[in-house]
Amino acid sequence: MRQAGRYLPEYRELKAKSSFLEMVRTPELALEVTMQPLRRFPGIDAAILFSDILVIPEALGQNYAFRDTGGIAMAYRLETRAQVDSLAGADAVAEKLAYVPAALRLIRKELGDTKAVLGFGGSPWTLATYMIEGGSSDDFERIKLLFYTDRALFDALMEKLTAALITYFKLQIEAGADAIQIFDSWGGIIAGPDYEAASLRWIKRIITALPADFPIILYAKGTAPHLTDQAFTGARVISIDWTADLAIARRNLPANVAVQGNLDPVLMQTTPEIVARETRRLLESMRGLNGHIFNLGHGITPQAKLECMASLVDTVTHWQ
Ligand code: CP3
Repeated sequence: MRQAGRYLPEYRELKAKSSFLEMVRTPELALEVTMQPLRRFPGIDAAILFSDILVIPEALGQNYAFRDTGGIAMAYRLETRAQVDSLAGADAVAEKLAYVPAALRLIRKELGDTKAVLGFGGSPWTLATYMIEGGSSDDFERIKLLFYTDRALFDALMEKLTAALITYFKLQIEAGADAIQIFDSWGGIIAGPDYEAASLRWIKRIITALPADFPIILYAKGTAPHLTDQAFTGARVISIDWTADLAIARRNLPANVAVQGNLDPVLMQTTPEIVARETRRLLESMRGLNGHIFNLGHGITPQAKLECMASLVDTVTHWQ
């Protein structure tokens, strides 16, 4: 999950000098931002590459930027068959995103084997929401309308994204990632019976195309009814948002998948005492259960307090 960002003064300092996209595209700066949370909180046991899921649409020819009011603005909205056809193919990924494996290699070198290094990318469905909606969306009407009215065009876009992501994840694996997290952040906005066709089948295709023993962590927000289906994608870890009871989810999932999660990130805006209390409550609920990677239930917010993060890391690392 996101652990770097604006809640860190050292991140804000760097961002005053370089834009977000400059930091993403410059391996030395991406290394620096990746390392910031680990330096401040040495108990964190994994580094997640500093990048963004939207580098994939960008590599295919649809650029993105940040709206002044918050959220994502794509350079244009993907609307027609001609636009989908004119997106670049998977071969553009290696050329345009060479800075990603370069950053991963620097991170690997810096950390050696002391911490796990995570690569990541968006799911085809979640990337398609940004591409079809033209950015962040409140209602996701356009992507749903496309899914229901022109399945052939929807599938054509998903084929392109799936192929691009397979290439992209292979590059990350070669560059030394220990695991890859797939973010299906908008998996929860499609009707339950359509989740498989809209999102999960494409994720399955990606996982099937990667080396069989390589660990994939699958995170999908708002998909509590689908956790069991997710466990049969081939993912090794199911990362769960804060709305599910983690211990119940753990008990209901097959023993050969681990769970990751799932403290509500809003707690990071409270007090160290409240964070310690809620963290212990979650850990206590998992006592005696195997296969739990502690994590927030979604990315950290800019309003998170440093003392709350310190309390979280301290509580987890001293738990017995
Ligand atoms: O800790 C890390 O360094 C992880 C790197 C990471 C980022 N984005 C950096 C980032 C990861 C894993 C992501 C994933 C990502 N990006 C997702 C999937 C996970 C999720 O949160 O659901 C999504 C949907 C995006 C797209 C995106 N990028 C959004 C919606 C935003 C927020 C826009 C806003 O209005 O703030 C971003 C920006 C972003 N990506 C930030 C970071 C650190 C914040 C940038 C900043 O505030 O300077």
